[in-house]
Amino acid sequence: MSAQGPAQPRRVENLHTDKGKVPVYATGVVDQAWDSYTADDHATWATLYARQRELLVGRASDEFLRAQDAMGMTPDRIPKYDDLNAVLEPATGWRLIGVEGLLPELDFFEHLANRRFPVTWWIRRPDQIDYIEEPDLFHDLFGHVPLLMNPVFADYMAAYGRGGVKAHGIGADALQNLTRLYWYTVEFGLIREAEGLRIYGSGIVSSSGESVHSLESAAPNRVGFDLERIMRTRYRIDTYQKTYFVIDSFEQLMAATEPDFTPIYARLAEQPSIPAGTVLESDTVFQRGTGEGWATDGDV
Ligand code: PHE
Ligand code: CO
Repeated sequence: MSAQGPAQPRRVENLHTDKGKVPVYATGVVDQAWDSYTADDHATWATLYARQRELLVGRASDEFLRAQDAMGMTPDRIPKYDDLNAVLEPATGWRLIGVEGLLPELDFFEHLANRRFPVTWWIRRPDQIDYIEEPDLFHDLFGHVPLLMNPVFADYMAAYGRGGVKAHGIGADALQNLTRLYWYTVEFGLIREAEGLRIYGSGIVSSSGESVHSLESAAPNRVGFDLERIMRTRYRIDTYQKTYFVIDSFEQLMAATEPDFTPIYARLAEQPSIPAGTVLESDTVFQRGTGEGWATDGDV
């Protein structure tokens, strides 16, 4: 493949939805084709890796940083999934599989339920270093994979997959409630550690801007984790989050999501959604955001 230039993902189509244009990819599991990465691809990984690691010391959860080291990720070159799997599988039973990009929801849930984590095989172009609107290898691998080494978080992700299969069978509203939970925990979650608030969400750790913004900006709200409240809360896909939810521990997350969600979905169907930036009376507020710079529309 490298003889014909950099390999390209097989994008199947762009779907128009209420979220705008969403790329849809071939759903099959693909080989990582590690030999097809160019020197530019490895350099992109190295640049992003070094920059994020420097930013994340003292900002990311200790558990995240330790797990990332334990997996053997380094800046020098894009890791091979097989090498990471040799460490990850014996630790928590999770395995990485290569994919072309975002998967349809049910395929994604089924992989998670079976402890397979889909990782986009291609990495962003050099001109997309600071921002890319869809998940690439850096987001998936650097952001999501380390915490799969943590036994409690690993169980949470598999339980989420099973819950996703179930919600998919219940209907679109249930799926939306569950997606918000993923967004505000797996993607944009904060955790309270002894030294203060720390990041564990993949969407934050893979973004240099949001790594600083999520902890240090006065603009966003930072409030305590509350399952049903999160499931009602809209979110942003195109700007930094207006609200971050803080857990005390992965055990808290696991315990709170243990109950059957079926009656919760039924109850939530009767309640209005909450705008992304709203603070409620019932919230445990760590920081009430100033709202500076917030877009006034576009919550998903
Ligand atoms: N308990 C949830 C259900 O019954 C499943 C779930 C677990 C969802 C963990 C998210 C996270 O649907
Ligand atoms: Co992600």
